[in-house]
Amino acid sequence: MHLSMILNEWLQRAKSERWAIGHFNVSNLEAAKAIVAAAARLRAPVMIGVSEGERAYFGVWEIAALVGALREKTGLPIFLNADHTKTYDGIVEAVDAGFDSVHFDGSELEYEANIRETRHAVEYAKLKNPEISVEGELGYLRGSSKIQEMVDTSPSDWTDPEQAAAFVSRTGVDRLAPVFGNIHGIVTKSEEKLDIERLRAVAASTDAFLVLHGGSGLPDHEIRAAIESGIVKAHINTELRVAYRQGLEQALRDMPLETTPYTYLVPAVEAVQKVVEAKIQLFGSHDKVI
Ligand code: G3H
Ligand code: ZN
Repeated sequence: MHLSMILNEWLQRAKSERWAIGHFNVSNLEAAKAIVAAAARLRAPVMIGVSEGERAYFGVWEIAALVGALREKTGLPIFLNADHTKTYDGIVEAVDAGFDSVHFDGSELEYEANIRETRHAVEYAKLKNPEISVEGELGYLRGSSKIQEMVDTSPSDWTDPEQAAAFVSRTGVDRLAPVFGNIHGIVTKSEEKLDIERLRAVAASTDAFLVLHGGSGLPDHEIRAAIESGIVKAHINTELRVAYRQGLEQALRDMPLETTPYTYLVPAVEAVQKVVEAKIQLFGSHDKVI
């Protein structure tokens, strides 16, 4: 059976079969190893994402070379995404380094400026790589990928379905990241609740692949409802960061005299892998690579 290495083809398959590809953010090699080990064990396509901060630390060319090598070694559909890229220059850098996917995040811009800038990013990306998958964002997604006490969100932040349809057709994006109650990060003193009706209205207005940002901290049933209502790619970052840190802290407590990184980092890798495997099962993307 032919195994596609084109992300948009996988998103199309996920859409017709109603499951979602997991998008997992990384800051370092250990997290990437954990994601690939999980994908290999569960035979799942996966996306590895790096935000502007994450790739400034990792290196744009370094992460591109690593993901290319991992894909070659494993034969798995592992795709690299330039997550939440806020400048045209950032898009150019990622496209030129060979990323499979870019996310231009113009959500802080006024509507017409967001369309103009996103379209500019799409034009460059598709010219350099016709197979690349490009995402745009509309609405105000609050919070950041860390533990926060409270993040308020109100319907005035959320994506308007009519605007979403026009945004997709005027920019030419393949994917749209809508806002419908989702927030980035984990909140400890309030509850994260999705507006599934709003998501359904956005899904009815456009054929673009829909992306759930801010997957951490959401109860499983909310994520399942979002996938049943049109989400085909789901992002997880904070829960992986928490697992990594807890795994590392435990290892340092258990081995106070250990100085070998490839020994004391193993529990951190295993902790991240465990979370990724649970999310792959939740998203229904397991057993898709035969
Ligand atoms: O783009 C990254 C994600 O949307 C991560 O969100 O930290 O809430 O999992 P999260
Ligand atoms: Zn995000």
